[in-house]
Amino acid sequence: MQQLEDERPKKKVTPYLLYCVSTAVIGSLQFGYNTGVINAPEQKLRVFFQNVSRERYGEPFSDGATTMVWSFAVAIFSVGGMIGSFSVGTIVNMFGRRKSMLFANVLALLGGGLMGLSSLSRSFELVIIGRLVIGVFCGLCTGLTPMYVGEISPTAVRGAFGTLHQLGVVIGILVAQIFGLESLLGSDNLWPLLLALTILPAVLQTIMLPFCPESPRYLLIVLNKEEEARKALERLRGSEDVNDDIQEMKEEGMKMAMEKKVTVLELFRSPNYRQPIIIAIILQLSQQLSGINAVFYYSTGIFEKAGVTQPIYATIGAGVVNTVFTVVSLFLVERAGRRTLHLVGLAGMAVSALLMTISLSLVESNQSLSYLAIVAVFSFVASFEMGPGPIPWFIVAELFSQGPRPAAMAVSGCSNWTANFLVGLGFPKLEELCGPYVFLIFMVLLILFFIFTYLRVPETKGQTFDEIEQGFAAKPAAKPAHSSVPDAVVIGQPETQDRPPLS
Ligand code: GLC
Repeated sequence: MQQLEDERPKKKVTPYLLYCVSTAVIGSLQFGYNTGVINAPEQKLRVFFQNVSRERYGEPFSDGATTMVWSFAVAIFSVGGMIGSFSVGTIVNMFGRRKSMLFANVLALLGGGLMGLSSLSRSFELVIIGRLVIGVFCGLCTGLTPMYVGEISPTAVRGAFGTLHQLGVVIGILVAQIFGLESLLGSDNLWPLLLALTILPAVLQTIMLPFCPESPRYLLIVLNKEEEARKALERLRGSEDVNDDIQEMKEEGMKMAMEKKVTVLELFRSPNYRQPIIIAIILQLSQQLSGINAVFYYSTGIFEKAGVTQPIYATIGAGVVNTVFTVVSLFLVERAGRRTLHLVGLAGMAVSALLMTISLSLVESNQSLSYLAIVAVFSFVASFEMGPGPIPWFIVAELFSQGPRPAAMAVSGCSNWTANFLVGLGFPKLEELCGPYVFLIFMVLLILFFIFTYLRVPETKGQTFDEIEQGFAAKPAAKPAHSSVPDAVVIGQPETQDRPPLS
């Protein structure tokens, strides 16, 4: 047993690896910040739009027109996200991972600059164009960060490091909620600064990135630069003994050399990729169609309807719960496994959605049910961060090997942003139609996603990219000889024991 313990993949977390992961995760923080930043200054922006209209046309926009410009400024961010996430595949293949992250920051400077100058130049169009540009930037971040982090992480901590992407996102949302308070940057004069603040992390990442290496997997498998890949790995692992990693990459590279370049169409045509791409897309849909952003975009309204007297504090409370449970997931993901946590999260969300429905529908006759509404929203958010929040973002990088990974990240990322857009746009209308029963729709979807995950999603914890791919191969192949995970350990782990059949 002791011997088996010694043979388990070593964690090899060095300060330099942490530096590189932290640098990449600044992109996640940006995504979270720009997701959350637009809510607090809503009223200030509406007034600004009306003032500009008065200065230009002699009369303010009607309420309807103001709402239209406002909704447009909110929704265009997700449209940018779809464009950015879909471009990830092409960009990383052209420039590599590190340079792509570096170039993306130009968009943050541009988008932040445009929004920051909107008030000075009396132009609401600059807010809208700025939000579009920032959306493209965030779309790129949601592909680039998980890809780079997944590729430089040692197998044993790849899930925990992958969860850092979501931790960056939730901290970004929380920072935006706090900075957006009227007493900080959410005031009449300072809101342009609040929107432009995204420039600072972009500058910081631009300074830090040149000290990070290009992804060794990209260097070796795509560019065939073994020496450079070896040097990068030695620095990341803090050891000269990187032969196992190099060997594993070479085998992956040899297989890739036998395949044609994987295009988006190919992902759906080839029997080897069809199953993982369907899983990747459905996991991303399970994240967004769980209804999480119905809560994040509209929580204040939900709490008001549930009779909560100080909804703003309940909303900030949801942001705090969100952050705390992402940290919990970070520590659980390498023990419990991805599949188990995703299932637990989906089930918890379904139960919470039911509790929310009960409290919203009965609160008129029983005022004390407003507490149940707060508990239900908090447990909805907490369950989300156990699995459905972090896992879909990083598992896509795990389900595919080097060749199809960029195309897969593009397709699944774009599905995520499209579903995000639809929920953001559609929720107010659905709420109007269904009233307090609106969360039952999400409950049904959550149950369907639970069933799919139970039947179809494999455990990827502790497996090399190659081993994961082998699991999906049309003909099941034997475990590769180079594996750093001994058979007895793999078989002995409970979550691999109940792994569902892959075909
Ligand atoms: C995930 C989702 C994002 C959501 C956030 C909430 O990162 O992709 O849309 O707002 O979690 O924590």
